[in-house]
Amino acid sequence: MDKTEQYREVTRRLHALLAGERDEIAVLATVVAELYHAFETFDWVGFYRVTAPGLLKVGPYQGGHGCLTIPFERGVCGRCARERATQRVADVTVLPYHIACSSTTRSEIVVPVLDSTGAVRAVLDIDSDQPAAFDEVDQVQLEALARELAELYRAPAPGAEAGAPPAR
Ligand code: SME
Repeated sequence: MDKTEQYREVTRRLHALLAGERDEIAVLATVVAELYHAFETFDWVGFYRVTAPGLLKVGPYQGGHGCLTIPFERGVCGRCARERATQRVADVTVLPYHIACSSTTRSEIVVPVLDSTGAVRAVLDIDSDQPAAFDEVDQVQLEALARELAELYRAPAPGAEAGAPPAR
C-alpha cells in the first residue's frame, strides 16, 4: 500500500470511528491514535491546542513525553501557529529554534488547525526518527485532515473579541 492509500485508509477509519462525535479531546485522541499506529516512521504524534492568545498547550499525543507548553514565539510548533502555515522540516538538527522533546527526532511536520474565521486553534505535530520522513503527500493529506477538524472549533478562540483579527 503506498502512502496515499495509507492515508485514505486512515481517513476511512476516522470517518467511521468519529461519525457525529463533537467532543474535542475524543476526536483529537482518536486522530492521534490512528495516525500513530498507521505509519511506522511516525514516532511521536500529537496536538498542541491554543489555550490562550499566543500559547500552545499539549493535547492528546502518542509517543514519548511531549513538552507541556509552547509559546507562539518558540519552536516549530510556535512558528506553525504564528504563520498559520505548515512547517515541514527535513532535518531538525540544523534548525536553531527546534525544541527537541526527544534526542532521536530527525524530521518533523507541523500542520495548523484553523477555524472557520481563519484563527489557529491547534497544531498537529508529527515527529520521526528518520531524516526527511515527510513529503508533499504527507503535507497534502494532513492539511486535508486538519481542515476537517475545523468543525470542532465553532466557539470563538480563547481571548477572541467580536471582530478581532485571527490569532497570528
Ligand atoms: N519539536 C516541537 C516541540 C514539540 S515535541 O517535538 C513533541 C517544536 O519544535 O515546536
